[in-house]
Amino acid sequence: MRTYEMRAHEMDPTPHLIPRPVRTGPVPSGAGSCRLDGETVVEAGPGTEGVARWLRTAVGAATGLPLADSASGTSGSGSRIVLAIDPGTVPEAGPEAYRIAVDARTVRIDGGGPAGVFWGAQTLRQLLGPDAYRAAPVAPGREWTVPLGVIEDAPRFTWRGLMLDVSRHFMPKDGVLRYLDLLAAHKLNVFHFHLTDDQGWRVEIKRHPRLTEAGAWRSRTKWGHRASELWDEKPHGGYYTQDDIREIVAYAAERHIGVVPEIDIPGHSQAAIAAYPELGNTDVIDTTSLSVWDTWGITANVLAPTDNTLRFYEGVFEELLGLFPAATSPFIHIGGDECLKDQWRQSPAAQARMRDLGLTDEDQLQSWFIRHFDRWLTARGRRLIGWDEILEGGTMESGLTAGAAVSSWRGYAGGIAAARAGHDVVMCPEQHVYLDHRQAAGEDEPMPIGYVRTLEDVYRFEPVPAQLTEEEAAHVLGTQANVWTEVMQDAARVDYQVFPRLAAFAEVAWSSLPAPAERDFADFERRMAEHYLRLDALGVAYRPPGGPLPWQRRPGVPGRPIEGSPPNV
Ligand code: ACM
Repeated sequence: MRTYEMRAHEMDPTPHLIPRPVRTGPVPSGAGSCRLDGETVVEAGPGTEGVARWLRTAVGAATGLPLADSASGTSGSGSRIVLAIDPGTVPEAGPEAYRIAVDARTVRIDGGGPAGVFWGAQTLRQLLGPDAYRAAPVAPGREWTVPLGVIEDAPRFTWRGLMLDVSRHFMPKDGVLRYLDLLAAHKLNVFHFHLTDDQGWRVEIKRHPRLTEAGAWRSRTKWGHRASELWDEKPHGGYYTQDDIREIVAYAAERHIGVVPEIDIPGHSQAAIAAYPELGNTDVIDTTSLSVWDTWGITANVLAPTDNTLRFYEGVFEELLGLFPAATSPFIHIGGDECLKDQWRQSPAAQARMRDLGLTDEDQLQSWFIRHFDRWLTARGRRLIGWDEILEGGTMESGLTAGAAVSSWRGYAGGIAAARAGHDVVMCPEQHVYLDHRQAAGEDEPMPIGYVRTLEDVYRFEPVPAQLTEEEAAHVLGTQANVWTEVMQDAARVDYQVFPRLAAFAEVAWSSLPAPAERDFADFERRMAEHYLRLDALGVAYRPPGGPLPWQRRPGVPGRPIEGSPPNV
């Protein structure tokens, strides 16, 4: 990893901040800084104790400074970090707004709520320099200073997310916790946890133990994308115990990140069917012969629309609601994407069900599935969110609850339709923010798939389509980047796809940027020079601006690049 050269900070405290804050100043005349040292105390006002704890563990570890509680009887002869909640702290208001004011003796962080104070603390860490991102001090005795000035800041969107697919390739718990830290460092506040798919079931469900005993493991894996002839012939799998999940949820909550768990139904369910064959369309195929899928694509093996399936998944969701409390997981994601209907067309049982329900096509049957769980979740105080296919089969017309929301991934269209119908929307169009797509043209990208989406392309992504009126646009809760892991076998591959583009995405989600064509990408790149040093200190295996390092390449393993520009639907 690169080494960071210590250097004095410039007077303007914002030269390297990512995401860019709303406003800065006044910067006092004359250079100056506030020194943090062994005497520095933290004065944590009511409600900010968690932020003080985070400062002590994260920034304390990097700096070696105790950052003692001011109430602990320390002399108080040094500087102070004051944390307080003040709802009127900046004109933008809101619980995530904050103001950080630095004078010669005090760093004061006021937040609209605890989350705002936490985001202010993240800004403080950036102001301290890249070494503040390490796990232990590298230069004992060095000076830690914060440049004088004032920053006022608040996010554009309340939903600033990353979706991580841990089914196609399992990410062990420590990797997930690390990603939560990476989200927090970028002021992202939603972790969409894609826990189930055809290739593996990743969450322990006590009443259905075979979901993880059998459904979490596969005997081999396609190596490269589906066009590849290669196989990785070793077993792959893993899952999170219920205590692992509780730990992840609590760790996220301490970082003011909500978790959106996803159980994908009625498609993308082959791992569940392999574990419990009665969940599949047993009158179409011998579902006892199915295994957890070992390759990529969209499988024909989907859930059977039976009462048994409904009761089974109600049991799954009941345990899920216990693991993901409403306070930090108001939304439960039910997938709903890419459900092939061939087996339902061939299944006498599915056709009989459709007749009983008065449904005239299989899209309506999928819609019936979705609406069942919409009502079920709503009755339990949660909100359903699903991929934009949940709108097919007349779902909105047939009565989606008012709280149901849509993840718009096949472009903007699903999100526009949902917002116009008064539903909340998260914009994550694959043409812009699918971070599994390659980030440069050329042979060097490892297992390249999808369109070329460069750092600059992501920087110029606009989550709110111009067609929406102001009232409709208010339904765009925000945006998220999605990371599907078919070609990402380990955390280093995930890092390579996610970074540096997540930094650009974070600025899009947080900062109120001008229209895409007017965005100052040169300024962003200038700030990235420092941000790469932060990522180095954090040990992130990002794609360097010059292209992959030799060990980041995967010569000979085919991907599935798509040529040309993505359709902007
Ligand atoms: C998706 O990419 N299938 C949501």
